[in-house]
Amino acid sequence: MIKVAPSILSADFAYLADEIKKIETAGADWVHIDVMDGTFVPNLTFGAPVVKKIRKVTDLFFDCHLMVNNPEQYIEDFADAGADMVVVHAEATKHLHRCVQYIKNKGMQAGVALNPASPLCLVEEILPDVDIVLLMSVNPGFGGQSFIETTVPKIARLRKMIDDAGLNIEIQVDGGINDKTSKLVREAGATVLVAGSYVYGAADTKAAIASLKA
Ligand code: DX5
Ligand code: ZN
Repeated sequence: MIKVAPSILSADFAYLADEIKKIETAGADWVHIDVMDGTFVPNLTFGAPVVKKIRKVTDLFFDCHLMVNNPEQYIEDFADAGADMVVVHAEATKHLHRCVQYIKNKGMQAGVALNPASPLCLVEEILPDVDIVLLMSVNPGFGGQSFIETTVPKIARLRKMIDDAGLNIEIQVDGGINDKTSKLVREAGATVLVAGSYVYGAADTKAAIASLKA
């Protein structure tokens, strides 16, 4: 079962509630929430206070992708705001295991993300503790960038690593996902597809989301 998680990074922030309703009606499985601190990535977005407000407008699963250094300092805020899952970058914390346990102790699902150039061995030891691994298929920070092709064999290697360990972990792919790249990542073993500009730029949102699963 493939899940589609549209990224509200590409939504019109002046109408965020409407923009979330739009993807909900169109069949989105999750809402992908891109949190950026201007330090881990060269851009700023929003934090837990915004998540708390949009929590009131939908029951959709909130998938919070923290592109911030030292994510441990914000985990409690995201739990209080109503996040369902928090994904932190392996490159952003010195104590990934502690950080993952903290997320789970707060009652949320936990995930670890890797930048395009970061090797899979960074997540190998933490696999039994996570619900999801997010492979970035662009350098994080901005929507609308081109898909990095080397992500495809990386997904296949991660899928084998997970299957060999007998684990049940989702593989999420984020960046440059459209009707063409979605096919490549699904075939390689991805199960959750993030799409920002493709979904929010489409004239027919429902058809766009469906095309990512087909
Ligand atoms: C990039 C973000 C992505 C972004 C994807 O740093 O993590 O979630 O919204 O945007 P598209 O789908 O336009 O590449
Ligand atoms: Zn993201």
